[in-house]
Amino acid sequence: MDVSAAVSAPLIGEDTVEEVVRYLRRGEPLSISDGSGIIERLERRLEHLLGIENVLTCSSGTAALHSAYLALDLPTGSEVIAPVTTFHASITPALHCGLSPVLVDVEPDTGNMSIDALRKAITERTQCVVVTHNLGHPADLDDIAEFCRERGLRLVEDCSHAYLSTYRGRPVGTVGDIAVWSMQAAKTLVAGEGGFLATGDRALFERACLAGHYRGRSRKQITDPALRAFADTGLGLKYRLHPLAAVIACSEAGHLPERVQRRQRLLRYLSAGLESIPCVQPPLVRDYATMGGWFSYRPVLETTGDNSQAVFRHRLEVLRAAGVPAHRPSIGALDSMALFTTTAPLRHASATWKPRLCGPFHGALAYSRGRLSVTVTATDDLARMESYAAAFAEATGSSPRTAPLGRA
Ligand SMILES: Cc1ncc(COP(=O)(O)O)c(C=O)c1O
Repeated sequence: MDVSAAVSAPLIGEDTVEEVVRYLRRGEPLSISDGSGIIERLERRLEHLLGIENVLTCSSGTAALHSAYLALDLPTGSEVIAPVTTFHASITPALHCGLSPVLVDVEPDTGNMSIDALRKAITERTQCVVVTHNLGHPADLDDIAEFCRERGLRLVEDCSHAYLSTYRGRPVGTVGDIAVWSMQAAKTLVAGEGGFLATGDRALFERACLAGHYRGRSRKQITDPALRAFADTGLGLKYRLHPLAAVIACSEAGHLPERVQRRQRLLRYLSAGLESIPCVQPPLVRDYATMGGWFSYRPVLETTGDNSQAVFRHRLEVLRAAGVPAHRPSIGALDSMALFTTTAPLRHASATWKPRLCGPFHGALAYSRGRLSVTVTATDDLARMESYAAAFAEATGSSPRTAPLGRA
């Protein structure tokens, strides 16, 4: 099968398309300043679905992260520690809050922040830690949260990849001070563009609201008189979610549990098929974690020896020729990116944004070595997973399984 010709699944359901049309035909608002209507419905739905509190929708995950850092209101020059493998926006909004990034190594098997690396990186300027639940796998939150509590550090959870993931039975996003999700089109819950934050701390919610929701919403929802005084302007930004994006997300949220379940079944089945193939490692899922919607499925294709690169390329070609939509992940770690290695082209941040790279990043290197991304969509089925496992066996010169995998 020609992988490039494979048809991808539609991003949103037909019922969602109809919801959007109905919303427009009814003449419902296309700008909502007070957080009512579809915005309120979406926020309540997200709280119920994800087991979180005080949801504030925003125009993107990046805007939600910026609002979160503004809400935390850390002293100028404070350091925020982030895992070197995260998507840049987990930490880049801190550039605009007078903060400074510190990048630390990750666990070689999950790609999540390493508690040892965190312990070593802390200085008297550290005020905050941001963890990303990499590809849906929760970071080891108990250790990290305890460390943050002991040191008086704020903890931000970036849950953009981890819709419905759980950590020791608890939903992600409920351990840190504030948590953030993206609803950009590639995420498990799609708005097109959009994001939201959630926090158990009402005071943080009010500050985040003030950051990007002036007038109507801030007048209505902010109770702290010292903040209410600024309701007419907020803190000067506008981060409202577009109502049509809210219609899409609200409708899609109705399908989320079922889609996540289906994807988990497919990917567990694929992992079972890969497990017995020498030189192939399915992605690790620790016993304390569930993977929610598996933002991306990334097994490892091991190759060793002098010509390991050539062997890897050859195996990848065999996989692709057999119809497996596999590729090398396209985004590298942050320690190679200009914003973290040279002076940012922004004079007002020149005294504050001073990235500190706590390398060497052996864990990140080990995590990326031989790692592939395999695209699995909503239209795939167990038979296709079987064909992918057979292709991995062929690519690595192992004998393919003869017995079916057991479609439990
Ligand atoms: C982990 C993570 N955090 C934050 C973001 C930023 O979200 P958005 O694109 O909605 O601004 C993304 C987006 O890809 C992400 O993957």
